[in-house]
Amino acid sequence: MNKLVEKNTTGLKGEIVIPSDKSISHRAIMISSLAKGTAIINNFSVGADCHSTLNLFKNLGVEIEFISEQSLKLKSTGILSSPLINLDCGNSGTTMRLVSGILAGQTFDSVLYGDESLSKRPMKRVIEPLSLMGAKIESNEYKAPLKIHGQNLIGINYNSKLASAQVKSCILLAGLHAQGKTSFTEPYVSRNHTELMLQYLGANISVNNSTVEIENSKLTAKDITICGDISSAAFFIAAGLIIPNSDFIIKNVGLNPTRTGILDVVEKMGGNIEILDKRVESNEEVGDIRVKTSDLRACEISGSLIPRLIDEIPVIAVMATQAEGTTIIKDAQDLRNKESDRITAVVTELKKLGADIEETTDGFIISGKKQLKGDCEIETYHDHRLAMSMYIAGLISKNPINISNFQWVNISFPEFEKLITSLQ
Ligand code: S3P
Repeated sequence: MNKLVEKNTTGLKGEIVIPSDKSISHRAIMISSLAKGTAIINNFSVGADCHSTLNLFKNLGVEIEFISEQSLKLKSTGILSSPLINLDCGNSGTTMRLVSGILAGQTFDSVLYGDESLSKRPMKRVIEPLSLMGAKIESNEYKAPLKIHGQNLIGINYNSKLASAQVKSCILLAGLHAQGKTSFTEPYVSRNHTELMLQYLGANISVNNSTVEIENSKLTAKDITICGDISSAAFFIAAGLIIPNSDFIIKNVGLNPTRTGILDVVEKMGGNIEILDKRVESNEEVGDIRVKTSDLRACEISGSLIPRLIDEIPVIAVMATQAEGTTIIKDAQDLRNKESDRITAVVTELKKLGADIEETTDGFIISGKKQLKGDCEIETYHDHRLAMSMYIAGLISKNPINISNFQWVNISFPEFEKLITSLQ
């Protein structure tokens, strides 16, 4: 599907409710499936990725039914049953990596497969530590499909080179059913939704700085209400800051500190945002965000900030084209392993629009402030976040842009365009 995006001349005004957090939605299904009892999960993501997780657990014998468009009832014995078919993870890296940790310790064998983009993504990062726990996983050069032969796992102390929530969650979920203790240490703290939800459902888990320790535990089902996704809110935050005459409120945004790197960056750039009505829901921090048009200045983004904003970097790059000075983003080499190589993809597409942006091995150098000229064809590389970032760039470009294969937004955020339009 092609999408023509034209310059916004009115500013963004009003109020939107941001849709459900994708990371938490995945975990709500996975972790509730490992718990005994019935849970109501409210505000579940309507994106395709989370539906891959939902269908996969149905195929593992968990009873899941929708009781309204975004609420579902999940009933589990806490024990999964052998799948009759191979398990489809679609485009979702989170599904494949986290579920491999769950399946490695089962009493049955299973196969995880995914689409073209997911089949190219690296799985060594989970296969290696799982193998140390005694897992038996077959793959072709550490890529999907993964043939998992269920085994009795033993706990390990793992020191990860990557700050990756997917790797951490995989090992913690394997550790939940392993013999003895499992600990995971990462160079910087990545998103901690798995830890918070395991704790919420009664796991024996403790956290000490960047080390998490888990013991074999039984979980008890509990209702979960999922907050809005700050990674989805990020597109609106960026749009509001760079589109003249904008002033609006984004309601129900998850504000877990391991995810709020974008807010720290906005502050460094001098952006005008305000957090309202901060609260806690299902063990996660939530609030509303007011965004106003701002004069932005360049900044450096690196180190421990990176895992706290990893998915927001493409749209932060768009923001940086409108900031005075040179923005440097580094230590983000893992962006090359996302749904697309997001470093090359962002640079190629923003250059077409007329941005002053250079590719480095682990990030970008972006000089602003630059009027984007538009008048070009944009690619989306099977990547939902690239599609939405380029849409925001189109809203500030002098001439219209044409985005090809815009349907990739449905992976995480089918309501994206409707919400943007509602603010115009
Ligand atoms: C995610 C973790 C991040 C992120 C991805 C979702 C998660 O990946 O990019 O979109 O839900 O755990 P990494 O852990 O590979 O950095």
